[in-house]
Amino acid sequence: MNFSILGTGMYVPDNIVTNDDMSKIVDTSDEWIRQRVGVQRRHICTTETTVELGYQAALRALENSGTKPEELDLILAATVSGDNVSPSLSCMIQRKLGATCTAYDINAACSAFLYLLETAAGYFARGKVKKVLVVGAERLSKLVDWKDRGTCVIFADGAGAAVLGKGSGYLDSTFTTRGGDTVIKIPAYAGESPFSRLEPERPFIHMEGQETFKYAVNAICSDINKLLEQNGLTPDEIKYIVPHQANKRIIDLACIRLKMPISKFYVNIQEYGNTSSASIPIALDEINRKGLLKCGDLIILTAFGAGLSNAACLIRW
Ligand code: COA
Repeated sequence: MNFSILGTGMYVPDNIVTNDDMSKIVDTSDEWIRQRVGVQRRHICTTETTVELGYQAALRALENSGTKPEELDLILAATVSGDNVSPSLSCMIQRKLGATCTAYDINAACSAFLYLLETAAGYFARGKVKKVLVVGAERLSKLVDWKDRGTCVIFADGAGAAVLGKGSGYLDSTFTTRGGDTVIKIPAYAGESPFSRLEPERPFIHMEGQETFKYAVNAICSDINKLLEQNGLTPDEIKYIVPHQANKRIIDLACIRLKMPISKFYVNIQEYGNTSSASIPIALDEINRKGLLKCGDLIILTAFGAGLSNAACLIRW
């Protein structure tokens, strides 16, 4: 026994920041960002916290699935941009929802939503849970260097969530880690110990854009091929690929290499930018609410990010 997705939800801040708005902050242009990244606008927090974003997405997922907070047996959440180091995002969402179940966070940066699903699958397999809430929420606007045009135009804020229930929808998955901090890194607050001799690093997103790009394209292609092969499927049998929304050109290139039509890939980076762990559940919620999937359709979720880590899973809707 594993799980099926019972409902989804998402939430983004009201404040929309266009590429033209960005060009007033750093030396960039709407044309450059559209062409090189594919983002047209993003949602950036003004007063919202990461907990609030996650809570709102969770409420919508609960409503969409017809689940009450007291029915939840587990809450798993992911963020690299939490309001606090502790309590965790999941604990704060548990409290705001009025739920009483176990709650903890998993850190796997932009791949994290898939790690939440995999962890939940273990609980379902052991018959420990009937309903699980998974949430990815990010306020990356507090982690970007607003003077670095190479990163601040890409990352943004938002949250996505799903409620999982007993079922047989989670079919297969693959996870890869290539540990290291030379490609993408977000240093933590260095502290103020009078004894520390470590050089403090600025607690912003550091990213080698081109290295990340290459890693991402390879990861998407190898993970999708692996899942297709392991399950004896052809690309035609997959209704949608839901990729992490990091750069439209990454998705385009993966399409070409995989010889799959771009129409099979769900793309919404133009509206939200890169929201890390929230990116896949936001896309999933849009697909769900637009009614693009019917019962039995196969989808592949595919993600990559800091760690380095990449992951993909095959789901029957
Ligand atoms: N506006 C205008 N010019 C910009 C710019 C911006 N926002 N950001 C960078 N540039 C400039 C650079 O300074 C450089 O100028 P130069 O040639 O005068 O030195 C030029 O554009 C090319 O820079 P480069 O880094 O080679 O661009 P790129 O085509 O690789 O695009 C990224 C940069 C970051 C958009 C791209 O590498 C990328 O998306 N990488 C993957 C990132 C990713 O997936 N991150 C998430 C991981 S979860």
